[in-house]
Amino acid sequence: MAKAKKRYVCQACGSVTTRWQGQCVDCAEWNTLVEEAAQVSTVFAAKHDLQGGGRTVELLGLDANVALPERIASGLAEFDRAVGGGIVPGSAMLVGGDPGVGKSTLLLQVAAKVAERGLPVIYVSGEEAADQVRLRALRLGLGRSPVRLAAATSVRDILTTVGDAPPALLVIDSIQTMHSDLIEGAPGTVSQVRASAHELIRFAKERGTALILVGHVTKDGSIAGPRVLEHMVDAVLGFEGDRSHQYRILRANKNRFGGTDEIGVFAMEGAGLAEVPNPSALFLTDRGEPVSGTSVFPAMEGTRPVLLELQALTVRLASGATPRRSAVGWDSGRLAMVLAVLEARCGLSFASCEVYLNVAGGYRLQDPGADLAVAAALVSALSERPVPAGAVALGEIALSGEIRPVAHAPLRLKEAAKLGFDSAWVPAGIDGPATLKLERFAHLRQLVDRILGR
Ligand code: TYD
Ligand code: MG
Repeated sequence: MAKAKKRYVCQACGSVTTRWQGQCVDCAEWNTLVEEAAQVSTVFAAKHDLQGGGRTVELLGLDANVALPERIASGLAEFDRAVGGGIVPGSAMLVGGDPGVGKSTLLLQVAAKVAERGLPVIYVSGEEAADQVRLRALRLGLGRSPVRLAAATSVRDILTTVGDAPPALLVIDSIQTMHSDLIEGAPGTVSQVRASAHELIRFAKERGTALILVGHVTKDGSIAGPRVLEHMVDAVLGFEGDRSHQYRILRANKNRFGGTDEIGVFAMEGAGLAEVPNPSALFLTDRGEPVSGTSVFPAMEGTRPVLLELQALTVRLASGATPRRSAVGWDSGRLAMVLAVLEARCGLSFASCEVYLNVAGGYRLQDPGADLAVAAALVSALSERPVPAGAVALGEIALSGEIRPVAHAPLRLKEAAKLGFDSAWVPAGIDGPATLKLERFAHLRQLVDRILGR
């Protein structure tokens, strides 16, 4: 037998080299290469080949009478929406999120809902003992639900046990605790995560079981373990939220079977996650009655929309001292520009006022698309007339005072509608979801007139 070659696997990106180096050549991370043993056997893997053995089938056939598996709707509408209308049998899904955000809670609830529809469901916990999961289920009021529980970390054990009667849904909490004996190494290392996921996914595709893997997220927000995990699954969902806030948002980052622009909104309560079909209620109570000087801007965070509150304050100075202009979370040059356009093109005067602008929540905004929302907050602060609480504003302001369109407007407006806003102030020529009343502005003067009620 040939001597097993040494291999070094980058724990950040999964790339493999035969020589140790301080820095990974692929992802440029430092000190991430770890020696790992090569694959020891493929006998077990060979038994689990995808059915079909290379035969081809027609895409749909002329009579389209092919019985296609139906999506499993869990009945948790916010979850089903985020995954694109239900779980696809035979698909593999990865749910990532910070520790304690509520992944186990969410998936236990989903598992219970699916089981209550009469489908066989197995929930495997590699982190908690079966009794702990049971206790949690009792707290969640799911004590009577026919979910089968297992506390296991060996992929071979799990597949041998469930192999006789493959469930409709198999939840693995979490993939970082799983261990495959096809490969040496501790659970949680890149090669273990990859090998375990590979075996589980292969099983799922072969037997038509829907598989949900829970994945931990590292500090920088990516799912721990190899990036390849994200390529191996059909859908990657992120469960986001701040532990000090009630809100949790489930968002698809990748979905082979649905769109990625739908989100599911939940609130973490004493008895688990509650669906929030109309987030506006909670979101707007946070904002309270409309106050002058605030506006809401649908920003983009990477490829995702996020709604931000902009706050402006103007303080009239009695003396002739030079008034301060201060911006937190927004470019002060851009603030000066918006003020100049308001003065030169719309006839407003901020000359004797100190002006403060703040992006709530400590965000740093760099998007020029926020100009219109900034202008709305400023005019509202100056005139002490509030912007309607249900309105968002987006648009870039040109030096001429004209309002220009911004990128990803449909996505931003969809998010605003989803979060319960009912109107949007936008540049001319922009369309949005039917539930949003659009007010189009070609020139900044029209926005000023709108706020001043002229
Ligand atoms: P959990 O689902 O264990 O998080 P994860 O699996 O993502 O690590 O959720 C843990 C948090 O949720 C915990 O801090 C307490 C909170 N929680 C509630 O507020 N209410 C509940 O009913 C449950 C089960 C948890
Ligand atoms: Mg957990």
